[in-house]
Amino acid sequence: MIRQAIIPLAGLGTRLLPLTSVLPKELLPINGKPGVEYIIDECIEAGIKEIIFIISKKKEIIKKYFSNDKFYKQIIKKKKDKRIIKEYKKIKKYKKMIKFVYQNKPKGTGDAVLKTKKYIKDKFFLMLLPDDLITRRNCSKDMISIHNKKKCSVMASMVVNKKTVDRWGIYSKKSKIDKNNFYIKDVVEKPDLKSAPSNNAVIGRYILPKKIFQKIKKQKKSKGGEIHITDSIRKLIKEGDNFIGHIFKGKYLDCGTMNGYIKSSLEISKI
Ligand code: G1P
Repeated sequence: MIRQAIIPLAGLGTRLLPLTSVLPKELLPINGKPGVEYIIDECIEAGIKEIIFIISKKKEIIKKYFSNDKFYKQIIKKKKDKRIIKEYKKIKKYKKMIKFVYQNKPKGTGDAVLKTKKYIKDKFFLMLLPDDLITRRNCSKDMISIHNKKKCSVMASMVVNKKTVDRWGIYSKKSKIDKNNFYIKDVVEKPDLKSAPSNNAVIGRYILPKKIFQKIKKQKKSKGGEIHITDSIRKLIKEGDNFIGHIFKGKYLDCGTMNGYIKSSLEISKI
């Protein structure tokens, strides 16, 4: 059973400047709702009971967003607005599920994952990258159901334009399970076009094993001077661990870039 999810939120958000100069990108509204709430809702609907937010000192406003009780209570006391009461209840429900850990230096996704080590209880946990929104289908839920059948790690995936392989984790297939699921042979972080094993990209949903912490601890920096989770996943695969690439069914929205962020509001407003 997958009960815990982790969400790395310590990134600087430079691709969304100037919007992110004072506000974290995860709090930017997408069709009237902060981006991170879509991610939380995906977790709740997928049966997750506890979410660990990896934030930084610079992004403590995220913590404040979920613990602004005094502010809400004062407003509700003065004005019994149904909408505000409903929103406050929702925020309180979220808060109950969330734990905060800190990654004060942006040393990469692998390093962010390592910060959650002492909180992870079960053999497997879910990780969601908040830049990657997947609409129209609960990708985490689908991945958990595959995990429950195959009892191994799963990563969301999609086929990308060959010219863009150097923006993603790219994997090669070992064998086919069915039309949308494959055992992975190898995975590389942001390869150049020449060395890319395919154009199957990893998208920001991962079911990872607890034992990955041991690998991250020994992991050296690679691309861009960062500690990449992809490198630790690669090690586990080389040692014989099964990782499934799951071609998800929903629609992918890249909210980490300005273009993608603008498009995501338009797309979500259609649902
Ligand atoms: C991260 C991962 C990469 C993955 C991507 C999905 O990259 O390192 O393997 O393909 O997320 O969005 P980032 O977006 O942090 O550069």
